[in-house]
Amino acid sequence: MLPIAVLISGSGSNLQSIIDRIEQNVLHAEIKVVISNKAEAYGLTRAKKHNLPTEVIEHQNFSSREEFDQAMVEVIKAAGAEAVILAGFMRILTPVFIQAFPNKILNIHPAILPSFPGVHGQAQAADYGVRFSGCTVHFVDEKMDHGPIIIQAVVPAYTNDDGQSLGQRILKWEHRIYPQAIEWLAQGRLKIVGRKVEVENSPAVFVQVDENEPALVNPGLERGF
Ligand code: GRF
Repeated sequence: MLPIAVLISGSGSNLQSIIDRIEQNVLHAEIKVVISNKAEAYGLTRAKKHNLPTEVIEHQNFSSREEFDQAMVEVIKAAGAEAVILAGFMRILTPVFIQAFPNKILNIHPAILPSFPGVHGQAQAADYGVRFSGCTVHFVDEKMDHGPIIIQAVVPAYTNDDGQSLGQRILKWEHRIYPQAIEWLAQGRLKIVGRKVEVENSPAVFVQVDENEPALVNPGLERGF
């Protein structure tokens, strides 16, 4: 079991997908603590429903990003977590945080990186008129939405999409690829080679041919994800 901390700021639907896969025994991780920088984040309610420990650490109570990050590092280490899962956590992390968990921090982004980094990825992709968008799970480095890419899922974008409709289509696949990426991390199957991530015995590309929900996932999803 990989001991993890999950960091959230909002709804926590990705947190929910991680909890569900753990409870189904498909994802071999244990959530040691859920941390939110916002007291009203609905994800905290989800965590409590599953009896998971939660902590609220409000960034505005700290005089610098570094002090806020250091407070989170201490809570995560005290909880016994070894990896950190950013799941809709809306703060930029400083080297204080990144260097505390080398190659053990993952993030999910609702676009096909390096296109559309930042907080409005879904709306920017829809407005740009792209024909495809999707989501990316990557290791976190010191630049925003930048580190080595583990897995991506691609979905179509349509001319009548806005950020909301495209975002919903993407979110469904976030819920599938994020637990899968965490499982690979838990199994020790991810090797970072420069900017690339090798997934040991990586499955072939997963294709869903369904006129309502077509998608392409690379590397492919394994059983249960
Ligand atoms: C997701 O779209 C995620 O990719 C982005 O923030 C959103 C969080 O959603 N980083 P939720 O809180 O997991 O429901």
